[in-house]
Amino acid sequence: MFETLPAVGMDPILALMAAFRADSRDQKIDLGVGVYQNDSGRTPVMASVKEAEAKLMELELTKAYQGIAGDPDYNKHMMALLFGPRHRILNSGRIKSIQAPGGSGSLRVGAEVVKRASPNAKLWLGTPTWPNHVPLLGSAGFEIEQYPYYNPTTHQINADGMMETLRQVPAGDIVLLHACCHNPTGTDLTNEQWDQIADLALERSFIPFIDAAYQGLGDGLDEDGYGMRMMAERLPELIIASSCSKNFGLYRERTGSVTFITENSEQAEIVASQAMAVARQTYSMPPAHGALLVSLILGDEQLRANWEAELEEVRLRIKSMRILLTDGIKGNPAGFDFGHIERQKGMFSFLGITAPQIDRLRDEFGIYIVSSTRVNLAGINSGNIGYISDSMNRVLS
Ligand code: LMR
Repeated sequence: MFETLPAVGMDPILALMAAFRADSRDQKIDLGVGVYQNDSGRTPVMASVKEAEAKLMELELTKAYQGIAGDPDYNKHMMALLFGPRHRILNSGRIKSIQAPGGSGSLRVGAEVVKRASPNAKLWLGTPTWPNHVPLLGSAGFEIEQYPYYNPTTHQINADGMMETLRQVPAGDIVLLHACCHNPTGTDLTNEQWDQIADLALERSFIPFIDAAYQGLGDGLDEDGYGMRMMAERLPELIIASSCSKNFGLYRERTGSVTFITENSEQAEIVASQAMAVARQTYSMPPAHGALLVSLILGDEQLRANWEAELEEVRLRIKSMRILLTDGIKGNPAGFDFGHIERQKGMFSFLGITAPQIDRLRDEFGIYIVSSTRVNLAGINSGNIGYISDSMNRVLS
């Protein structure tokens, strides 16, 4: 049966992660996959998560299945985190959220539900976007269209191009947006641009599908929620896939949720039933551990305050690494202006250097960066910034 089955290449980000692990050199630095590292170059378990784990050890009396929708408390806490605890949408009856395996599982459940509701809807992705959006959402059966997002010359959003294209999106199509900390460009929509896209969504009747994988890593938990909160206020329909991988550091626990906002409460019930049917037909039940931890943290004042403080530390550390890298390479021999790195947000920015330069950084200096030139700023620390800057300056000479 498998004789004629061809092998497929690995996703470029995961291939780079594997190559880094296989590299036996002592001097190697991972600026590839979007995983946070602290100033010692480690990806620690957050102290608030550790504390919640200790609590869970005591409290957890069973490993019996949760329901298909996961932990109801987790779902409530996640909605309050996305929208803020006092948002009107929370008590409107128009919203339903189910726990799903990580941000990717949440995106996929959302996509499958859209496909059931509207089989001919097309999916609009910004260029560029997280490369896995294409196979992950495309294999749900969507025809994919693109709208311009980032201008690599100005290192800013191609606002005119984006709005012009979005103005032509047919009614009922889906437009994927990044809530904050845009992956891979680090360039976020301004609040004004969010407002304009909401205007267009109302005018054109397209439906935004927001990928919220980095809430709290940009400007803060509330600030990063602006687009979602405003759209939940103004639009009849909205889908959000959220993840606790980055902001709780729960990567391997696959902790996410998919949230649907519908026109009325009957539709919300129907959509939730469809989402649960999708879950049942794919993974059956979501993994519990990460969601129970998040639920414990968000439901306990002290733990929550500790987590928020830790997240703030993560956010500010990445921000300061942006400044250090910009400083370290501002006198580069090629005269390139890397000022955008300092201005952008979240884990990533494009360096905008050439493919041979990226290869040289890896082969000669052991510095791993995705071939698109996306650099994970959270892999930089006070111990390796000198080496990274020197290596880049040499490669740019
Ligand atoms: C990334 O973009 O590096 C992360 O979101 C990890 C992944 O799965 O690609």
